[in-house]
Parts: sequence; C-alpha cells; structure tokens
Amino acid sequence: MEMEQLVALCKRRGFLFPSSEIYGGLQGFWDYGPLGVELKRNVREAWWRDMVTAHNELEVSAGAPSAYEMVGLDCAIIMHPQVWKCSGHYDLFHDFMVDCRESKKRYRYDQVYGRWLTCKGQRIFVASDVPGVEGLELTEHKAMKFFNLRGKDADELVWDGDMQPLTTLERYGGTRVIEPGRGITMQSRKICDFSNVLGPDAKSLGTLTEPREFNLMFKTIVGALGSEEDTVFLRPETAQGIFVNFKNACDSTRVRVPFGIAQIGKSFRNEITPRNFTFRSREFEQMEIEFFCHPQSSPQWYQYWRDRRYRWYLDLGLAGDRLRLRDHDKEELSHYSCGTADIEYAFPFLPPGEFGELEGVAHRGDFDLRSHMEGKLVRQGDQLVVELDGDGKPRHRGSGKDLSYFDDQTKERFIPHVIEPSAGADRATLAFLCEAYQEDEAPDEHGKPTKRLFLRLHPRLAPIKAAVFPLVKKDGMPEVAREIYKTLKPHLTVFYDEKGAVGRRYRRQDEVGTPFCITVDSQTLTDGTVTLRDRDTLRQWRVAKDECLGELKARLNG
Ligand code: GAP
Repeated sequence: MEMEQLVALCKRRGFLFPSSEIYGGLQGFWDYGPLGVELKRNVREAWWRDMVTAHNELEVSAGAPSAYEMVGLDCAIIMHPQVWKCSGHYDLFHDFMVDCRESKKRYRYDQVYGRWLTCKGQRIFVASDVPGVEGLELTEHKAMKFFNLRGKDADELVWDGDMQPLTTLERYGGTRVIEPGRGITMQSRKICDFSNVLGPDAKSLGTLTEPREFNLMFKTIVGALGSEEDTVFLRPETAQGIFVNFKNACDSTRVRVPFGIAQIGKSFRNEITPRNFTFRSREFEQMEIEFFCHPQSSPQWYQYWRDRRYRWYLDLGLAGDRLRLRDHDKEELSHYSCGTADIEYAFPFLPPGEFGELEGVAHRGDFDLRSHMEGKLVRQGDQLVVELDGDGKPRHRGSGKDLSYFDDQTKERFIPHVIEPSAGADRATLAFLCEAYQEDEAPDEHGKPTKRLFLRLHPRLAPIKAAVFPLVKKDGMPEVAREIYKTLKPHLTVFYDEKGAVGRRYRRQDEVGTPFCITVDSQTLTDGTVTLRDRDTLRQWRVAKDECLGELKARLNG
C-alpha cells in the first residue's frame, strides 16, 4: 500500500483532514472527520477498557507478579511551570536543529542525510531531509543541477560512500581558553564545518547554520499581565500530571502499591519537522500509564507491561511481522532508566526494514517521584542527585512534599518505582488504518470481478459496526429496514442507506471498514429473514430480522 492511497482515502471518506484546510492548513495539526473521530474514540475506549475498567484487581493477570489495581485521572493541560523544571523538560526537552540561510527552512539535525561526491575538482556533501531511496534520488538530481550537468554526463559525478547522517560531519577540536587563575587551558569543542554542504533546499554551498538547541515545549501566558513570570507551557506529555497527583490518588482512594494510574489526553510538542501524516504531529493524544510498584519487584513488572502492551496491539489486529518489541541498547537509555522497550510498527512511509515507535515502555525507577520531592535530578556515577546551581543551591527546587509510600502491612516506607507504558492514540490509530487497508477482487452487481478497496479494521475499532439497506427503495422494504435500524441504533453505531445500487452501497461500507451489512429483500417480506454480509469473507447468510441485534453482538464481541 502506498501511503498516498491511505491519505486520499482518509480525506475522501472523512477520517482525517489537514487542520484549518480552507486557509491552507497548519503543518503538524490534523482534524479528525466524522468517521475518524469514531475510529480514534474506539482506539481510546479499547485502551481504557482493557487497561482500566475491565481490569480485574482480584485476580492475578497472566504474566503479572501479583494482582494489582488500576485507576484513572484527567489532569489540566497547563500545570505549574515548576513541574517542567523539576521533570527536566525545561532544560533538556529539546532537539537540535539547523537552519538554512538561503531557503529559510529549518531541519531537525538528526534527520538530515547526504552523500559526498567529487565533480569538476570539487568535493561536496549533497544533503536531503527525505529518507530512503527517494532521498538518494533527490541528492543525485540536486548534484546534477549544482554542477550543471545533463543526464548523459551523470558519470562525471564520483560518489564517495553511501548516504550518511549530517551529524557524521561533526568533529571535536581543542580550543585554547584563558581561565582566571588557571591560565591557558585546552577545551574540547564540537566543530561543525558545513562549508561544503549543499543544504536540502539550497542552491549554493555552506548555507546551513551550526546545530542549535530548540526546546519543544509550546509557551503561553497565564493572566492579563503577560510578563515573563506568567509564562506557562502546554504539556508535552500527560505523565507529569500523574506523578504530581500520586499522593492525591493514594490519599483519596484505597489503592495500594502495586497500582497504576492511567490518563488519556492531549499533548503538545513544537516538532521541528512534523511529517508522515499524523505520525509526528505538534498536537497529539497520549494514552499513558504510570505503574507504581515496590523497587524489588519492579524488573518483573517491567517485563509484564512490556509483554502486555505488545499483546494489546496484536489482539487488535496489527500483524506480527509488522509489529516488533525492541529493547533499547544501554546507550539509548535515558540517564534515569533501568530498561526501556519500544513497540514499533513498520509504517508504509518508512524505508523497507525500518520501524516507527508506537509506544515506549520504560522502567523509570524512582526518578519522577524523587524529582517532584527534591528537585531536578542529575546522574552522578550510579546515583541520582539534586542538580545544583553555581551557588550550591538546587537548580530547580522540588515541591518538598513527601511522595513516599507507607505499606501498612509490611510496615515499610519506600519511594515506589515506576513502570511507564506510554502510547500515542494518533500513532496507534494510524497503524490500525495502515494495517487495515486492503485491496482484493470481488464481483460487482453484474457479477463481474472488479477491484475492491476495504478496511479490515478489528470490529471493536470499526467506526460503523453495521449498515442497514433495503435492496430497493419500494415494496415496503425501506419501512422494514428502518425498523431494524431503529432497533439497533440504541446499542450499536449503525448506518442506514437506501440510495443507489446495493453493490455500490456495500463497497462504500467496505471502504470505511464496516464489518457487517444487513439487507432487506423480497424474501424478508415473506419469511422475516434478512441477509447478513461479512466484509472480509463476503459470505452472506440469512437470519431472522428480530435476531439481528443478538447475531451482531455475538459476532462483534467474538
Ligand atoms: N511520558 C513518556 C513520553 O512521552 P514519548 O516516547 O516521548 O514518551 C510517547 O511519547 C508516545 O507518544 C510515543 O510512543 C508516540 O506514540 C506518541 N508521540 C510522541 N510524540 C508524538 C508526536 N509528535 N506526534 C504523535 N505522537 C507522538
């Protein structure tokens, strides 16, 4: 499946639109249309139900070290700015970017690739911000233009090696620094010489700036005064709202460690290069769990959540060969993490063999609760210690509140360790759409085999569960079909359609992933049965019209 086909279907059938499209759209922002909103709600509801409301805290779930409880939370998007200072987001939540002085475009430093080549006695690095084969072709095209060559002269370009990240052009050099009291010392400094780089959208060399840090948090102002002190941030993750409410959850409910707090909500990141449809957006929704457990059992809980979350995607229809669970290497781990695994999907916009992150499952130790107690932490050897400023005071002071937990059965007081399964609702929705997109051949209304496009969505996720049609718009069929529709409507999301040839109506429902269609025909008028049609197998069978609801419920849940 080409990504363009899915994007076109999403637009045509009302799943997704570019935000504020009539004004040309706004990069990194998307609107869910009438069917998209149902699909995404179903993704969120499946997650909430499977993780929170349907979780049985009285039994030990398969693979879990013990029984556990789950509760929910819905925090404000804007929180006290100190939250982000202590969590580390204020100082560290940035990407490196490079700007192009010529095209005025900005790129994420780690997403620019290129190749060295020599031509006409000049050695240059031709860069592209498009990955894979397409990026390779773009660099060849750009090089031809730069050296003013025609197609027949292409062998004048002598390429040196494969595509490599722009970051590989960095080197470290010693700089002489005069330090008071110490005289002249040498300091190691990163040097980025881009003078021979042809930027992704530039016509001349050396237009890219040195990489600079760019904090991804959106700023806004609270209150009417609008001074710097009133600056707040749109949350870049929902997780911190859970940590700062840990004590409230413990004090207001009877939850006991181990337990998890779940939250679904919007997050905002001023991504430098939003791309790949909704995959990297600037406004998106997260589905996060912070699971609090005893430090000793935390490795087993990490293992449990890693496997539990992977299974969730499989159960909802993502194919095993396109879904993988990847453990982070030691170098990839955050400074506080004892273990992280990503659940990744082979999205069609990625080069073959590459996977994109759907969810991260991280063992975060006691980093988060301690940060909000003591202040921003940094690693010192094996220890996490409060970061100090030049005067020896905490760089970002914590709340000072005691976020430890007292186990009244073992009489032990400890700071719980945290396992964090953090998923994106939009990325999950996109993966389910990509996986569902199918083409096959099916007979049309004249029995001729024709191409059929359908979404093989899991019935729990399908925006419409069943469509009801009268075969023709006469002979009392619409009246019976409307009666069936009326019976189903309070229980299921159903759709009624009486316009056009029935074959075309089936196709329209296949295209949006409706698992079942019910058709009232002339036989219904004599024996009270209707045909039920299965989207995937195209099998049709008859059921009594009064049994439609029971039949659908059994099949949708089964
Ligand atoms: N609290 C941990 C955390 O936020 P993350 O890996 O930065 O971790 C978790 O984000 C999930 O949120 C990702 O796996 C992804 O599904 C989703 N996500 C992150 N940034 C996103 C973006 N710019 N657009 C869409 N989804 C995003």
